[in-house]
Amino acid sequence: MSSLLSDLGADLPLLAAPMAGGPSTPALVTAAARAGGLGFLAGGYKTAQALAGQIHTLRAQGVPFGVNLFAPNPVAVSTEAYRRYAQALRAEADRYGLTLPERPIQDDDHWTDKIDLLTSAPVPWVSFTFGIPDRAVIRALRTTGSTVLQSVTSPEEARQAAETGVDALVVQAAAGGGHSATLTPATLPAPIALTDLIATVRRAVPLPVIATGGITTSTDVTSALAAGAEAAMIGTALLRAHESGASAPHKAALADPAFAGTIVTRAFTGRPARALRNHFTDQYDAIAPDGYPALHHLTRPLRQAATAAGDTRLIHLWAGTGHRQAQAEPAIDTLTRLAARL
Ligand SMILES: Cc1cc2nc3c(=O)[nH]c(=O)nc-3n(C[C@H](O)[C@H](O)[C@H](O)COP(=O)(O)O)c2cc1C
Repeated sequence: MSSLLSDLGADLPLLAAPMAGGPSTPALVTAAARAGGLGFLAGGYKTAQALAGQIHTLRAQGVPFGVNLFAPNPVAVSTEAYRRYAQALRAEADRYGLTLPERPIQDDDHWTDKIDLLTSAPVPWVSFTFGIPDRAVIRALRTTGSTVLQSVTSPEEARQAAETGVDALVVQAAAGGGHSATLTPATLPAPIALTDLIATVRRAVPLPVIATGGITTSTDVTSALAAGAEAAMIGTALLRAHESGASAPHKAALADPAFAGTIVTRAFTGRPARALRNHFTDQYDAIAPDGYPALHHLTRPLRQAATAAGDTRLIHLWAGTGHRQAQAEPAIDTLTRLAARL
């Protein structure tokens, strides 16, 4: 059993992955802890105040947990490329009576406020994706007693993370659902098997590894551990859980045979992310420029309206390659099934 997890009282080497945009509720994180594992809150897209509210809820439950943040690593988009893409989306927006932002919006997702929150009221674990924070931020969090984890997608990224003094790595394979953690989003993540990625990262750096990306069966769990990971982190397989806050159309689509597999696309947010193929990815993947967070803000009103209307043609239906394994059931049942071969 990994000391990373057992230090926090976990009996199982299983973690509920951070999933921003709704799925990672305090109830899901609590359920993961009660099942013997641990879970992460997703701080992405939230204000510091909203995140503080969720942390408060979890503290009241008395379970240990982690908080994940998007570390700023913006990808620029030219005004010209942005306008062309916005123009291409206009007919979709018109159908919903929406006006999309005319100029690229750049923000840092309330970065400083959230770091201030986590250094003033420390949580057991803090993890980062999209970018690696400054050493000073990592040092400040570690000094307050948090264990700091960095998501990486290659041995090169693992070396960069190790140099900044993080405690452990979340090694993410391209099979995973949602955004890739890649530090270089202009290049699509290489389709390397999770077990191979774990092995090469472990050869590159001496840090403990948590494996994520495509783990949806008990065999996937034991393979990841056999390859050298200390724990397996589960995203997609928990998306349909009763405690998941994923939208109803998203939950339904994951199990709907009408969807023809997944694609890694920048079409929704300007950063590579794996989603169910739908009308939006079929129409716009090929013409979408890089540009995060500008494209996230551009398509957000459309995605929100489509979600409210149950219009899965236009929703970002984040899904890993193993999405057919996701069951509508209590999270403890999913995690117990995944632990069956441990
Ligand atoms: C809906 C959704 C939202 C996600 N949001 C985040 C996030 O906020 N932060 C993060 O580090 N990873 C995020 N991810 C990636 C997961 O943490 C994890 O790496 C991935 O789901 C693992 O692959 P799997 O989906 O095959 O289990 C998200 C994934 C999904 C499916």
